[in-house]
Amino acid sequence: MTTETVQHLHLRAGGVSLVLEMPGRRLPVVRHWGADLGPLEEEDLAALATAGRVPVGDSPFDVADSVSVLPEHALAWTGRPGLEGSRGGRDWSPALRTTTRPEVETTADGTQRVVVRATDEAAHLEVQLEVELHAQGLLRLRSTVTNTGADPYVVGAVRHTVPVPEQATELLDFTGRHTYERIPQRQPFPAGVHSREVRTGRTGLDAYHLLCAGEPGFGFRHGAVWAVHLGWSGNQQVYAERLHNGARLLGGGEALEHGELQLGAGESCTTPWLYAAYGVGLDEVTARFHAWSRSRPHAPARPRPVTLNTWEAVYFDQSLERLTALADAGAAVGAERFVLDDGWFGGRRDDTTSLGDWAVSPQVWPDGLGPLVEHVRGLGMEFGLWVEPEMVSAESELARAHPEWLFSAGGRRGLESRQQHVLDLAHPGAYAHVRDQLVALLRDHDIAYLKWDHNRYLNDAGHAPGGEPGVRAHTLAAYRLMDELLRARPGLEIESCAGGGGRVDLGVMERCVRVWASDCIDPLERRDIQRWTFLLLPPGWVGTHVGATRSHTTGRRHDLSFRAETALWGHMGIEADLTAATPEELAELGAWVAFHKAHRALLHSGTVVTGDHPDPAVQVHGVVAPGRDRALYSVASVARPATTGPHRVRLPGLDPARRYRATVPEPGAPWSGGVADRVPWAREGVVLPGSVLGQAGLPMLPLLPEHSHLVLVEPVPDRQP
Ligand code: GLA
Repeated sequence: MTTETVQHLHLRAGGVSLVLEMPGRRLPVVRHWGADLGPLEEEDLAALATAGRVPVGDSPFDVADSVSVLPEHALAWTGRPGLEGSRGGRDWSPALRTTTRPEVETTADGTQRVVVRATDEAAHLEVQLEVELHAQGLLRLRSTVTNTGADPYVVGAVRHTVPVPEQATELLDFTGRHTYERIPQRQPFPAGVHSREVRTGRTGLDAYHLLCAGEPGFGFRHGAVWAVHLGWSGNQQVYAERLHNGARLLGGGEALEHGELQLGAGESCTTPWLYAAYGVGLDEVTARFHAWSRSRPHAPARPRPVTLNTWEAVYFDQSLERLTALADAGAAVGAERFVLDDGWFGGRRDDTTSLGDWAVSPQVWPDGLGPLVEHVRGLGMEFGLWVEPEMVSAESELARAHPEWLFSAGGRRGLESRQQHVLDLAHPGAYAHVRDQLVALLRDHDIAYLKWDHNRYLNDAGHAPGGEPGVRAHTLAAYRLMDELLRARPGLEIESCAGGGGRVDLGVMERCVRVWASDCIDPLERRDIQRWTFLLLPPGWVGTHVGATRSHTTGRRHDLSFRAETALWGHMGIEADLTAATPEELAELGAWVAFHKAHRALLHSGTVVTGDHPDPAVQVHGVVAPGRDRALYSVASVARPATTGPHRVRLPGLDPARRYRATVPEPGAPWSGGVADRVPWAREGVVLPGSVLGQAGLPMLPLLPEHSHLVLVEPVPDRQP
């Protein structure tokens, strides 16, 4: 029997352990990814490995013992391979061997990082694998693949995987559509592959969002969960795979069309990061993702400005008079940023023309945007502008002058959608054209913010004239363009929008600080869309607007209290024609905006907590301050509760040993059916320990359907002994 050296690395951070094992010179195998195992000696790690080693019998294929983070057929992996590709039909099954002895290095921000260099000399391939465990317990992996051969190597896929234990029997991911993003779907972890594929060149309104595997019935506060997310806005594949030998893993990578990624001699490609989070309950998974975003160098340090967006207020009906009046009304209720949406450029009077012509419309704005920008700035608000830089209307100066810049697979222009096509940003001429127009706008006006939209799919997207697949290069070019604009205008912020929440991913969020979660502002539906969008992104990074009384997407009518309370939690905004509102409505809205401002430091820095209430009609969620000294909760009735009597609302996340005062604040006018008049303690408050609030809960009266109220929890001084 030959003995091989087995190297172990134990990374620990934020309550998570990752044990990597490198048998011989093979790629790392994850021996454990989950709850912190405490400090382990080398002999403990070795014993863990030996104890887990089962006799192989006559077939290594029956033992899921050596599945690396980049699974290889050469090591008896029978599922989806990590690295797929070929050199004219050869070198398609690499067997990579490490060339250095990897160590854990710790970077200045507390990240533990392992870099593994491996090569397959016969296949002429090199891989540099990076594994990072961040201080918050978030894991991420990526690889750089280099073709060391003389002939081109065509990469089919590079997929990273992380194993999950066999108690992870249930899957949760998401689907959706325009105005109804992030609909959860649950199912047993099936044998074979459950794969969510994107071939539309953007993350998608129907995106999987997070793919979670967990213990049966896992919820927000209970059940171990393992989740992955790919930091990429282009085509992709994220999947759960289970084999006959017990292997269970989550994986993902970019989805490439045939021939899309070809490495010439000595050329390399780097994959997007696969992010992975473990937690007990979804809230813990969420906390790791939130801590990650908040720790990024571009994370906003200043309070998120309350935003007035013009889209549902005026649509294409733009004029200086109308918009200055709207800006006045917005400033009066406390808005701090004014975003001029679609319709300000070229000949764009509706959605049939002019995308690509990013110059101010002389018909609508005879004196340019200057007077509006100055008016808005004079009111003390920032100015923001809607753009859709990757798109082009057939009816535009751009398309007439440069039809060769439009995506075209095989000599034909692709289908129109919303009367638009996609501009191939990987074409240097197209890129420079759009960049120069946008840089000129930023130079000529005091623009602090871009709402960057993306309304058409990129399926059938080929580089003209040959028609080679172009999504990968386009996605990288779109990132590059955002980066260039951010450098050109220091302090600029970009919002990621794609027909609502169609581009919500950690790739685009390396440069954006806000997403538009959905074109649906109906609070009843928006609550769910927000709650699930918050699974990945912190509330301060998600736009949440107060819309009109009658929702433009569903036709439902809601009290202002329900609309405003729903919008309170994220990066708050207003998207309604305030010039048509009554003085009472404006006063009430102003009170909600003021309440948001008074609490946004908590809302945007705290831990998101979600109640697992047994009655699906009742929703409870909140934000607890980092030191657990205060919290704000929302209690909503999204349907008619099943019972008539009071129900107990448990307030999660508080310090059980501390005493708190709970009150029901009612910003704006008390509303009909309000709680404050009917609950004895609502105004004066009730003082209770966190253990009681969290475990026994507060008895609350059932609300009218589609109404909600707040519970504010504040510290009370410790009793003198
Ligand atoms: C998309 C966005 C909307 C709005 C319109 C403008 O649908 O999601 O918010 O900006 O485009 O055309």
